[in-house]
Amino acid sequence: MNETIDKGRRQLLTAATTLTGAVGVAFAAVPFLASWKPSARAKALGAPVEIDISKLEPGGMLKIEWRGKPVLVVHRTPEMIGRIGADDSLLADPGSNASRQPEYARNPERAIRPEYLVLLGVCTHLGCLPQNRFTPGASADGVLTASWPGGFFCPCHGSTFDLSGRVYAGVPAPTNLEIPPYSFADDNHIVIGLDPVKEA
Ligand code: FES
Repeated sequence: MNETIDKGRRQLLTAATTLTGAVGVAFAAVPFLASWKPSARAKALGAPVEIDISKLEPGGMLKIEWRGKPVLVVHRTPEMIGRIGADDSLLADPGSNASRQPEYARNPERAIRPEYLVLLGVCTHLGCLPQNRFTPGASADGVLTASWPGGFFCPCHGSTFDLSGRVYAGVPAPTNLEIPPYSFADDNHIVIGLDPVKEA
């Protein structure tokens, strides 16, 4: 995986330059808008967001917002990674052919590095936030049975997804949970909204 930071920085600088141009136009149009905040504007435009994952324990999940949508980052344990694939015959789109993800995340783990899953926390049925139900087996609330291998559960209409966010067949959600573009700035930081640098 070649993810040199320098090119990523160059892309960010290009984005920042573009943004500066846009802000300049805004100032010309509204000269007395003294409280303009480029960072807020950058966020609204969907600028990349960097996440510190150094404290994300194996088995844990964190949620941030990017472009107004929740992004979930899961630190999968080796045991969780080992469970991926066990239910492929029960999935609606195990190869992620009809689902949305960058090409570099179209694999069984749907990830650049198998230990980190990054996906939009937006159910592909009607947009609810899926819950993390990573523990296998029947759930205390009775909605998941003994055969549940762990994954995501959407409480709105009962759609279920595996530990890669791949949807089970026969539930309301039509496709797998979407993977946004992302890359690793280093071992402790993921940048949402920025693709990895391709090898020359
Ligand atoms: S919104 Fe998730 S199952 Fe309907």
